[in-house]
Amino acid sequence: MEISLVRGDITEQEVDAVVNAANSSLLGGGGVDGAIHRRGGPAILEECERIRSVSYPDGLPVGGAVVTTAGRLPARWVIHTVGPVFSKSQDRSGLLASCHVESLKRADEVGAESVAFPAISTGAYRYPPELAAPIAIAAVSGAGTSVEHVRFVLFDSAVHAAFEDALNAH
Ligand code: APR
Repeated sequence: MEISLVRGDITEQEVDAVVNAANSSLLGGGGVDGAIHRRGGPAILEECERIRSVSYPDGLPVGGAVVTTAGRLPARWVIHTVGPVFSKSQDRSGLLASCHVESLKRADEVGAESVAFPAISTGAYRYPPELAAPIAIAAVSGAGTSVEHVRFVLFDSAVHAAFEDALNAH
């Protein structure tokens, strides 16, 4: 598996699947979630609503992942995952790792060979990038997946630097 880092917008990535930093409702939000639904169009939300009613009436648990169409995005699928909100008192690194492992499992199930991840939980969920990056890199590197290319798409330079350090240290 090849892991690469790029600065940019997750909605513009020409990969098989992009990962959405969603919330348990799967009904949209801001940040990555807002951008994916805005650019991808209503087909994504329609599938999210169906998944909610059929499989997750109480919401997608933190660390879980589900796959939908990517609608009008260049990608073919969106894999929605729910990152943990950072906590000073609780170690939620396992949940953040699970977001990556479960997303790659969904990718394998649909046959995606290239997957783009945002920096899950490092925005509204306030996970410090210097803590999140090593967790993300280790989880992806250690996942037994058929995905050949994983791309981390970083929106700002501080997060990109954290992932660069984590990738170099891995
Ligand atoms: N492309 C790539 N990265 C982006 C983009 C984008 N278009 N927009 C934001 N980011 C970056 C942020 O700068 C941050 O580093 O993605 C990272 C994750 O930020 P959020 O999108 O806020 O996701 P998260 O921290 O996981 O919080 C999820 O926010 O938008 C709501 O519905 C979402 O409730 C959920 C929560």
